[in-house]
Amino acid sequence: MNSFAQDEGKQLFEKNCQVCHKIGGGKLVGPELLGITQLREREWLVKFIRNSKELIDSGDKLAIQVYEENNKIPMQAFTNLSDGEINSIIDYIENWQPVQKKEFTVDVNKKDGFTETEIRRGERMFYGLIPFENGGTASCISCHYAKNTDSLNWNPSAHDLAVAFVEKNGMNIYESMSEPSSQVMEKAHKEYNLTGEEIYNISAFLSEFSQKETKQFKIFPKRLMLFILFAILMTLAIIDLIFTKKLKYRLVHLIIIAVGLAVHLNIAMTEAKALSRTQDYAPDQPIKFSHQIHVGENQIDCQYCHHIADFSKSAGIPSNDVCMNCHNVVLAGTNSGKFEINKIKRSIENGEPIEWIRIHNMPEHVFFSHAQHVNAGNIECETCHGPVAEMHIMKQFSDLSMGWCIECHRDSKVDFKDNEYYSSYMKLHDQLKSGKIDSVTVEQVGGLDCMKCHY
Ligand code: HEC
Ligand code: HEC
Ligand code: HEC
Ligand code: HEC
Ligand code: HEC
Ligand code: HEC
Ligand code: HEC
Repeated sequence: MNSFAQDEGKQLFEKNCQVCHKIGGGKLVGPELLGITQLREREWLVKFIRNSKELIDSGDKLAIQVYEENNKIPMQAFTNLSDGEINSIIDYIENWQPVQKKEFTVDVNKKDGFTETEIRRGERMFYGLIPFENGGTASCISCHYAKNTDSLNWNPSAHDLAVAFVEKNGMNIYESMSEPSSQVMEKAHKEYNLTGEEIYNISAFLSEFSQKETKQFKIFPKRLMLFILFAILMTLAIIDLIFTKKLKYRLVHLIIIAVGLAVHLNIAMTEAKALSRTQDYAPDQPIKFSHQIHVGENQIDCQYCHHIADFSKSAGIPSNDVCMNCHNVVLAGTNSGKFEINKIKRSIENGEPIEWIRIHNMPEHVFFSHAQHVNAGNIECETCHGPVAEMHIMKQFSDLSMGWCIECHRDSKVDFKDNEYYSSYMKLHDQLKSGKIDSVTVEQVGGLDCMKCHY
């Protein structure tokens, strides 16, 4: 049979039959079709596929039997297909063979000690500097960024890939590159057909990249070094200026001191900013978890995940188990495919909890309790945390300043009458009854007392 006919049959099958039938994969809506041509006459098959109902109605015993064996679910008719087309589909089924798994000579996931040349070649391929043998023009780096960016990039970063590659429960890069396992990946990697050697080199690069990045995180903080360096230089300059007087030119001392002061001031300012007011702080999290998708699109209640907010000081961050309630079944996301969701499973298998980066951070001398506000005060989460249902990346919405707390306590009325908690405020109750006041604010029940908020 020529390959054109084979192609036609394949395409027709994928377009018309694949939603209900598998070849060599068991029953779907309709029965397994592998080997069907050995069981049935071709003529019968053509008739059945064209219009099974007609065949059943005509009293054909076999057709009735098939119909009954399949819980009397009828198959739709295909009167639009010609005899030739139906036959090409049957040919395709008859000649179908499982796709051969690509064989590779080395198991890269088990190999270490790649050579420098292999690593460099892989790096250049990943950056798109060497064209791939079998096509594919987009460089890997155009999706798998090597640096963090401000805007959300749903594709795994190069660093994420590298870490997954060297991890025991990470990924099998041969499988990833030759049999895409999610629709997102299939679409993203469609244009590539990498050779074994190309995958090998890219693996070499990834294995090196994973180490490079972790090393970078551990180096001595640059800013602290600068701080110390200039502290020493300035001290020396001052000593020389006043006592030793080795350097003739005063200007040198002054320049050192001026630059030193500028550096110190700069460092102090950046540190101070990082310490307290962090409104709009929105760090990249270890998993691309989106409140917009969970709260906005899928209408999951805040307290499904932050369930302790109702009765506890903190709202808490959900554990892996909570995620797995759903992600046992939801295996891939529309935007990120399976890579991000897989991280939850990897974390469970490795026994390493996900290290979410804390966004809200009040100074230690302040006391704030969620239960007081969410439960007693009945305040919506969004009043303080903003339009969470629209945030792909969570950010700090309010500035958490003292003024912010106070302002709300001045304006907010408490549910005074029916709240046992306030039954001791006799005077206010009397005023309320006599009509002197018509409501009670948080301020009036002591919401501005220093001791209520400060330890
Ligand atoms: C909407 C689901 C659906 C689609 C689409 C569909 N089928 Fe079916 N098919 C069934 C069901 C259900 C049965 C079994 C019940 C019946 O109709 O008798 C069946 C039965 C068959 C049988 C008979 C199997 C046997 O044991 O003899 C063949 C052959 C078959 N389908 C081929 C096809 C082909 C080829 C296509 C595409 C042109 C196709 N089907 C499209 C649902 C479907
Ligand atoms: C499906 C689970 C889930 C739901 C539902 C959910 N969250 Fe979250 N929330 C998380 C996770 C996981 C984090 C940590 C990662 C992050 O910051 O994005 C988080 C972080 C937060 C943070 C920041 C915590 C910090 O580090 O300071 C706030 C505030 C927050 N959520 C508020 C809400 C609000 C308000 C709602 C409802 C509108 C909500 N969440 C619904 C899972 C959830
Ligand atoms: C009155 C304002 C206010 C309301 C209402 C509020 N929060 Fe918070 N939330 C805060 C403040 C302030 C912090 C910082 C607390 C800290 O750092 O100790 C915070 C911190 C958080 C955190 C970080 C982790 C933690 O436990 O500290 C999460 C998650 C969170 N809130 C979720 C929620 C959810 C979900 C709701 C609704 C059920 C909610 N918040 C209602 C003010 C509020
Ligand atoms: C109540 C069910 C539920 C819980 C709990 C839940 N998710 Fe999801 N998650 C979903 C649904 C539904 C989707 C959307 C899947 C899709 O795009 O079709 C999703 C999507 C995702 C995605 C992919 C987003 C995309 O579009 O690519 C990630 C990543 C994710 N969830 C992480 C988490 C994490 C981490 C937790 C635990 C903190 C969690 N989820 C808890 C239901 C849940
Ligand atoms: C158009 C964007 C895009 C380009 C270009 C791209 N990728 Fe990806 N890649 C993705 C996305 C999206 C995923 C995650 C899909 C998923 O996990 O379902 C992914 C996942 C992967 C994975 C992880 C697979 C796994 O099993 O978890 C590897 C490895 C990978 N890509 C390598 C490459 C290499 C090598 C190149 C260049 C030859 C490349 N990618 C080019 C978007 C891209
Ligand atoms: C959006 C309005 C709002 C904001 C913002 C707010 N609060 Fe409150 N707070 C309330 C309300 C309303 C109550 C009274 C709850 C009740 O009915 O018991 C309250 C009660 C309290 C109480 C208990 C007071 C008492 O009399 O027992 C404390 C403590 C407190 N808040 C601390 C804080 C701190 C600290 C902040 C800022 C980080 C803050 N609140 C921000 C509305 C707010
Ligand atoms: C409703 C809660 C609340 C009340 C009442 C309150 N504070 Fe504060 N206070 C805060 C919060 C929240 C911060 C932290 C704000 C920040 O870091 O910007 C703070 C910070 C401070 C600071 C440190 C300022 C700084 O810049 O670090 C001082 C001092 C202070 N408060 C004094 C007081 C005194 C004195 C009172 C009584 C008159 C008082 N507070 C009443 C919530 C409160």
